[in-house]
Amino acid sequence: MIEQTRRVWLKFTCRTLTLGYAALMLIPGVRFLVDPLMRRSTQNSEARRVARLDDLQPNVPRPFAIKGSRLDAWTLYPEETLGRVFLVRRDGDTVEAFTAECPHLGCVIEFQEDQDRFFCPCHRGVFDAEGAVVPSDQLGWNNPLPRGMDHLECEVVEDDDSGEKWVTVVFERFQHGLAQQVATA
Ligand code: FES
Repeated sequence: MIEQTRRVWLKFTCRTLTLGYAALMLIPGVRFLVDPLMRRSTQNSEARRVARLDDLQPNVPRPFAIKGSRLDAWTLYPEETLGRVFLVRRDGDTVEAFTAECPHLGCVIEFQEDQDRFFCPCHRGVFDAEGAVVPSDQLGWNNPLPRGMDHLECEVVEDDDSGEKWVTVVFERFQHGLAQQVATA
């Protein structure tokens, strides 16, 4: 009887230890799998230097590509174009940044200098020079845009070494087709 109890206890101890070791070995694996997914949301939230302030003329939108690393689940792409933005220098050192991604269905918006407006060629969406939707009755066709151009967080910073002023932008993507600007998850 005592022998039988000892065997049962030994079996129980062995199984518990085996399960414990298995769980310990799984933790790094699970962290490895989950970590990139958790990091992805913070990757794009950094402020990137995009242009020198002196390269911008007052009230003339200029397009720029946003370069940076992109983490696609487990693959890191070190330097590629993440998107495009327009920078517009307003009064003094104030700069406004818009994403060039159309809020309708995501095509690339262009600036038509001769008409002083932004235009999306996919479905003839028209924004004025401030990025607001131009009413359909002013155009003579249905402007399909659900909202104005999406603003990006931007700032003018001074380089510590050279003293030059740079424009930094926090690049983000936003959901298409909504009346409000809502960041994608
Ligand atoms: S995607 Fe720009 S108007 Fe449709």
